[in-house]
Amino acid sequence: MSEKKLVFSGVQPTGNLHLGNYFGALRNFVSLQRKIKCIYCVVDLHAITVFQKPNELRENVLETVASFLATGLNPDKSIIFNQSSVSGHAELAWILNCVSRIGWLNRMTQFKDKAGSDKEKASVGLYIYPNLMAADILLYKATHVPVGADQKQHLELSRDIAQKFNNDYNCEDFFPLPEPLIQKNISRVMSLRDGTKKMSKSEESDFSRINLKDSADDINKKIKKAKSDSEPIPDNIKSLEKKPEALNLINIYSEVSKINLDKAINEMSGKEYSFLKTKLAEALINEIVPVGKEIKKLLENKPHLEQILEKGSEKANIIAEENLKNIREKVGLI
Ligand code: TYM
Repeated sequence: MSEKKLVFSGVQPTGNLHLGNYFGALRNFVSLQRKIKCIYCVVDLHAITVFQKPNELRENVLETVASFLATGLNPDKSIIFNQSSVSGHAELAWILNCVSRIGWLNRMTQFKDKAGSDKEKASVGLYIYPNLMAADILLYKATHVPVGADQKQHLELSRDIAQKFNNDYNCEDFFPLPEPLIQKNISRVMSLRDGTKKMSKSEESDFSRINLKDSADDINKKIKKAKSDSEPIPDNIKSLEKKPEALNLINIYSEVSKINLDKAINEMSGKEYSFLKTKLAEALINEIVPVGKEIKKLLENKPHLEQILEKGSEKANIIAEENLKNIREKVGLI
């Protein structure tokens, strides 16, 4: 990748990160950091679109930073900071609120899912959440955004907003149109209890997800209890696709073992799910338990984590202020 390319991504500090965040985002963050300039943000302003207890929010921000570091992000290579510490995010979000269209926001499926049946009671912040996400990315003129498949629609909106800004203010190419970088093999890790729903922090049952801080015992129990199927494992993807929970387990197995899906199906076809589950739990324990231990160790030194955020914010703020100066000028703000 050339020097002009810039990666930006964000993760909400809403508690324990899980296997979906790990495979969908964090592992990709780490491999990108080796090739290109990257900015990774703990998006605390996004988190408060749903009420957060202040003390928990503070803890969760630090835990998210610890998770970044434990999976291999290096603050000397990547900029790591929290969104609220760079006020440009909120300022650009306001400007983009005036560029984005109500009709566009009305199409966002995540708002519909999160707001539930009583949309009147959802916060205004939750509704305009995707505009803030566009501001996060465009504030740095980021070109590439590593995310899980669930964020694809928000990324498309960010591109539409960037394009409309460039048209409205007659400045072609001012904002690059950010490209999503979505993992090919496992773009959406599904719930262990329902293979049609994504693995998520907000699902009530902890048995639906593997958290990065889970112990070997937790992982064993959760994989054992994961929904699967009574028939032996099929030998082709077409048949597996009719059994979403089984497909999810094999997908996770192929990802954690770093083999492709065909090879994983070959290895498992005709076997009982108990065989797959034993191998899967073993592989996950090897990969995830050391990460969880590192998160807990890093959390013992909170001043160190705060210092990383502070330094990251300083670096992010320099880029943000420079870009904002030009943005204000384009819009006609004195
Ligand atoms: P968040 O905090 O919900 O998730 C963080 C990242 O993890 C990915 N992810 C998954 N990937 C695969 N399978 C899953 N089950 C799964 N669950 C979560 C998400 O796709 C995401 O990449 N709106 C964003 C945060 C954000 C952002 C941004 C991202 C704010 N500003 C700017 C990119 C650029 C969110 O709520 O992610």
